[in-house]
Amino acid sequence: MDDLRTDVPHPARVYDYLLGGKTNYAADRAAAEAGMAANPDSLVPPRTNRAFLRRVVTYLAQEAGIRQFLDIGTGIPTEPNVHQVAQAAAPDARVVYVDNDPIVLAHARALLTSSAEGRTAYVSADLRDPEQILTSPQVRDVLDMERPVALLLIAILHFVGDADDPYGITRRLIDALPSGSYVALSHLTGDFVPEKWAGVEAVYRKQGVTMQVRPKAAIARFLDGLDLVEPGLDVITRWRPEPADIAGGASDAAVSVYGAVARKP
Ligand SMILES: C[S@@+](CC[C@H](N)C(=O)[O-])C[C@H]1O[C@@H](n2cnc3c(N)ncnc32)[C@H](O)[C@@H]1O
Repeated sequence: MDDLRTDVPHPARVYDYLLGGKTNYAADRAAAEAGMAANPDSLVPPRTNRAFLRRVVTYLAQEAGIRQFLDIGTGIPTEPNVHQVAQAAAPDARVVYVDNDPIVLAHARALLTSSAEGRTAYVSADLRDPEQILTSPQVRDVLDMERPVALLLIAILHFVGDADDPYGITRRLIDALPSGSYVALSHLTGDFVPEKWAGVEAVYRKQGVTMQVRPKAAIARFLDGLDLVEPGLDVITRWRPEPADIAGGASDAAVSVYGAVARKP
């Protein structure tokens, strides 16, 4: 069992606490509370993003008929997880979860258990090494790459700086998927409050973590050559919102996340 180091805050568990999840410890909660005191809007991006993820997976399983999901940048499992949402619509749905954080994977192994009809698997791999993901035994075993797959890149691409060629990486992954596959992404943006997000990038940089928020046009480039599903690339709260998501109506500035779903022709 990996050492979970529950005595020090861990970014994914702090994120879990912001989402209202249960996989967090006193040190994580203290760090999250300090962040919320400094920035009262800090709950908005994670929560609206998670609601977007739920609507996207429901759309893919229910309306687009997708049965296979490759979720890169899983995060600490927080209910409802991708396989729970997908298997609620299609019990035979299969999900491969990928993350490069050993602590995330340790929690994931314990928590991400499939329906009897479907399957889940976990891969410890880095998005910046797409070959490692595509050739992993779990991906080859659980996903049939001859049939459509939904590639989920939800709140992860802003952790890949331009120096690491994020467009080449996503192109390589999309090239490996058959026609009729989908890509869903969400991505932080500084379009609405540039100074605030430049500050957040700087805080991450000090901690040795790359974070690069991008303008809408740069996020749209990830989906070049694909057919956007309505309503296209927009602030995530406007992507097929449901009544429960609209209640409380956060501003675009507070959300600062764009999202889209697109189909490979
Ligand atoms: C903000 S969380 C998003 C979690 C989940 N997708 C969601 O939207 O609720 C980002 C996750 O991406 C993972 N991550 C960041 N960079 C990564 C990389 N280069 N390769 C794989 N995973 C990465 C982190 O460990 C973290 O679990």
